[in-house]
Amino acid sequence: MLNSSYLIRKMTKQDLDEVMIIEIESFTMPWSRESYEAELENQYASYLVCDYAGEVAAYAGMWSVYEEAHITNVAVGKEFRCQGMGRNLMLEEEKLARAKKAERILLEVRPSNSAALAMYQGLGFIPTSIRKQYYSNNQEDALIMTKYLDKV
Ligand SMILES: CC(C)(COP(=O)(O)OP(=O)(O)OC[C@H]1O[C@@H](n2cnc3c(N)ncnc32)[C@H](O)[C@@H]1OP(=O)(O)O)[C@@H](O)C(=O)NCCC(=O)NCCS
Repeated sequence: MLNSSYLIRKMTKQDLDEVMIIEIESFTMPWSRESYEAELENQYASYLVCDYAGEVAAYAGMWSVYEEAHITNVAVGKEFRCQGMGRNLMLEEEKLARAKKAERILLEVRPSNSAALAMYQGLGFIPTSIRKQYYSNNQEDALIMTKYLDKV
């Protein structure tokens, strides 16, 4: 997908230095580089980046297994936030999920993450359950949000 200023394309191993910079600035429990390397080999995973003039500005990942897709992560570099990259990455992942005949997309989010919550709600995700004390760094619950693709 080509936006006026950036391209959304598949993540490659060459992107991982820049992905890790955004990962570390975005999450209190960042994934390791090795996790991303393994994900790029995972046949059920779809990882995308926003490429802004050759620079990785944002990325998102999803697992898609039969009728269920699961967003594993989405993060936008601090200087690129609030310009629609997060939403557009999510919409591209949704297209991939639909192409794989997924019926729903799930994700976990911290109830304290107001920016992500607002983005997911705006995209049609609804709260469907809670995983108690999911986040080990502060025992925060995870809110599970779901988007039902057959209804939209
Ligand atoms: C959450 C995140 C991915 C949003 O990406 P983004 O590119 O800045 O978001 P977008 O510009 O696409 O905005 C989409 C919607 O999200 C909401 N949103 C984004 N940033 C927001 C903020 N700081 N406060 C409130 N709402 C916000 C708005 O509803 C926005 O819609 P609008 O532009 O019509 O108002 C980004 O803030 C981020 O990387 N955060 C750190 C990592 C993270 O928390 N990932 C999610 C883990 S579950």
